[in-house]
Amino acid sequence: MAGSWATFGVDLHVDVARTGSGLRRGLTDALREAVRGGRLAPGIRLPSSRSLAADLGIARNTVADAYADLVAEGWLTARQGSGTRVAQRDVPVPASPARRPRSRQGPAYDLVPGTPDLASFPRAEWLKAYRRALTAAPNDALGYGDPRGRVELRTALAGYLARARGVRADPDHILVCSGFVHGLMLLGEVLRRRGARTLAVESYGLDVHWELIERAGLESVPLPFDELGTRTDDLGEADDGALGGVLLTPAHQFPMGVPLRPDRRAAVVDWARRTGGLILEDDYDGEFRYDRQPVGALQGLDPDRVVYFGTASKALAPGLRLGWLVLPPDVAPEVMAAKGGADWSCGVLDQLTLAEFITSGAYDRHVRASRLRYRRRRDQLVAALAARAPSVTATGIAAGFHAVLRLPPGTEQSVVRAAAWHGLALHGLTTYRHPAATPPPADALVVGYGTPSDSGWPGALETLCGALT
Ligand SMILES: Cc1ncc(COP(=O)(O)O)c(C=O)c1O
Repeated sequence: MAGSWATFGVDLHVDVARTGSGLRRGLTDALREAVRGGRLAPGIRLPSSRSLAADLGIARNTVADAYADLVAEGWLTARQGSGTRVAQRDVPVPASPARRPRSRQGPAYDLVPGTPDLASFPRAEWLKAYRRALTAAPNDALGYGDPRGRVELRTALAGYLARARGVRADPDHILVCSGFVHGLMLLGEVLRRRGARTLAVESYGLDVHWELIERAGLESVPLPFDELGTRTDDLGEADDGALGGVLLTPAHQFPMGVPLRPDRRAAVVDWARRTGGLILEDDYDGEFRYDRQPVGALQGLDPDRVVYFGTASKALAPGLRLGWLVLPPDVAPEVMAAKGGADWSCGVLDQLTLAEFITSGAYDRHVRASRLRYRRRRDQLVAALAARAPSVTATGIAAGFHAVLRLPPGTEQSVVRAAAWHGLALHGLTTYRHPAATPPPADALVVGYGTPSDSGWPGALETLCGALT
């Protein structure tokens, strides 16, 4: 039986199942589910038992009994004069890993790399920047505007990227886009229109990126990878124009964590100059570096041959869907044409807010605070492994907020399964290996230690250690 509480002034659909135990049980379950799932917010007043009974076409006593059951269970409160309300409750805390049963609920902890600690998003500072940006924005800022993105943001980015990442950027050649994936789609299209058939990628990376490349009509071909990282010295043969470009993560190879060596940087730039090919530089987490001097962007070596990709997904949040391309001047018109008149995908208010966030210094402050947070977690991870799982070594840890944990041969899948059993979402290195990659497979985990909140991190680390021992 389904009913809507029109009499209550809130259009809420409840499905009351006629279970073996009857209507009372069905209504109690349906209401409990609505409260538990958040459809009925804490404090909300429920309709009187008389009006709900009339609305659902059932006896008033049945509703009164269901309410009484839920009051006894603590889901509802009943007070003279203020009626029956949804109780104020804390969000249920997940059971501790030791007691957590194998269940079909989602994992209690998440160490899948890619997402920063979303609980530390600088909400208050972002709101302040939003208010300032909106107050200062001229009316015409709210129009269609420039498809490259707001000039305020392009100018702020040019200054920031030059200062923090060594990028040589002119605001006229910056294009704001919806994150890295959007930029990759645009460049894939440009390269295909130029007649390219393949794009070289690294042996390890993200399958979603390889799929986008294929969708743009290009084949993704993995470069060799050795203990020093991606090899770029083998590109020389492909001078026939079929190879349109090379996609690299030079500052911090994803996910292996090594920077591209200076001689390999030089080799790929030589290749691009010789052939007219493009280097696509994915600088996804360049700000997060701990043990060494910052590794500057490759783009600084040759702004005419390198397309620089930046994103707000690591330093702020992926949900913003904000990224930026710094384009070689002769490539910019082609990318603009690929974006076309139909693609206006980046909301102007977020762009203005980010511009204000950067120019006010809030971005730098947030990056510095996040760096400290992730560095602390990384140190805790390394210390916990040394104490609890000494056969496991953490590599690629000088930067970013994920680590590659090297495992004894043949154990990757069983550790991933053990982690899942304990309620921990985790990926093995195999997930990030290109299907055509040539280096011998290695057993390892890719641990995103930036993903949990500060309160979730100790439990996640404890569960990881449990799965490794
Ligand atoms: C290697 C790599 N590049 C780029 C990104 C950012 O992608 P986007 O800006 O589309 O969110 C990520 C995010 O996880 C990543 O891991």
